[in-house]
Amino acid sequence: MPELNNKVALVTGGTGGIGSAICQRLAAAGARIATTYRNAEKAEAWAAEQPYEPLLIACDVGNYEECVRLKETLEAQLGGCDILVNNAGITRDATFKKITPEKWQQVINADLDSVFNVSHQFVAGMTDRGWGRVINIASINGQKGCFGQTNYCAAKAGMHGFTMALAQEVARKGVTVNTVSPGYIATEMVMAVREEVREQIVAQIPVGRLGRPEEIAGLVAFLASDDAGFITGANLAANGGQHMH
Ligand code: CAA
Repeated sequence: MPELNNKVALVTGGTGGIGSAICQRLAAAGARIATTYRNAEKAEAWAAEQPYEPLLIACDVGNYEECVRLKETLEAQLGGCDILVNNAGITRDATFKKITPEKWQQVINADLDSVFNVSHQFVAGMTDRGWGRVINIASINGQKGCFGQTNYCAAKAGMHGFTMALAQEVARKGVTVNTVSPGYIATEMVMAVREEVREQIVAQIPVGRLGRPEEIAGLVAFLASDDAGFITGANLAANGGQHMH
């Protein structure tokens, strides 16, 4: 029997590069998949290509009220959430001198407020049922900082602070909370970085290449499994050796 049979996994931003691979891997392990989206056309085209049937729910995860409705829809359709992957995120890169309050706020809202907004809907159900997984997808740049990303680095480092605090609160209820910090993965987000800048980044990765979304998805699936029940409050790096600590 696949390991995650009868589990419900909600992956925010599941239609993106890393999110899509996570959904596929969890579905292959037997989980039923729900994902949030903001662009209906893109999400429907994405869903049609998946080898399983994801539940698509329109939701701006930066908006608390929309997350309340997300919970209602997910519970009505699938009964509850066992595995929450807080994966949705954006970048608005600019040097600190040039960053606007709007770019700061957009990233903090989409990348960090969202983790509170969504987790707040589902963690109580997990502790009541005595089993759950919260997996926060942060970034190497939340661990080491990055030129041009004060907003993103603050949000991603903040995610792990959240992980460590919540992990302590729910540890005795069968719920683990962990952070995964991907390095530079071949997704649209990374491909949007100017080519010459990207080449310099790849030159700093000991493995000598960008990561693959599947290499993050495999780690998430492991954290979601029962074998990972003793791992909580951890920040697991998958960055090709670019940052070791
Ligand atoms: N360290 C030190 N100096 C740097 C630098 C660095 N890493 N990068 C650029 N500079 C210098 C430049 O040499 C330049 O110096 P001069 O003014 O003396 O010529 C100055 O800073 C300005 O640099 P830019 O010309 O690049 O400035 P810009 O305003 O055109 O662009 C930027 C700024 C958008 C931040 C651009 O540098 C950039 O895209 N950097 C990459 C940021 C990055 O890695 N983002 C990751 C996105 S993917 C992601 O976030 C996923 C994930 O989780 C890993």
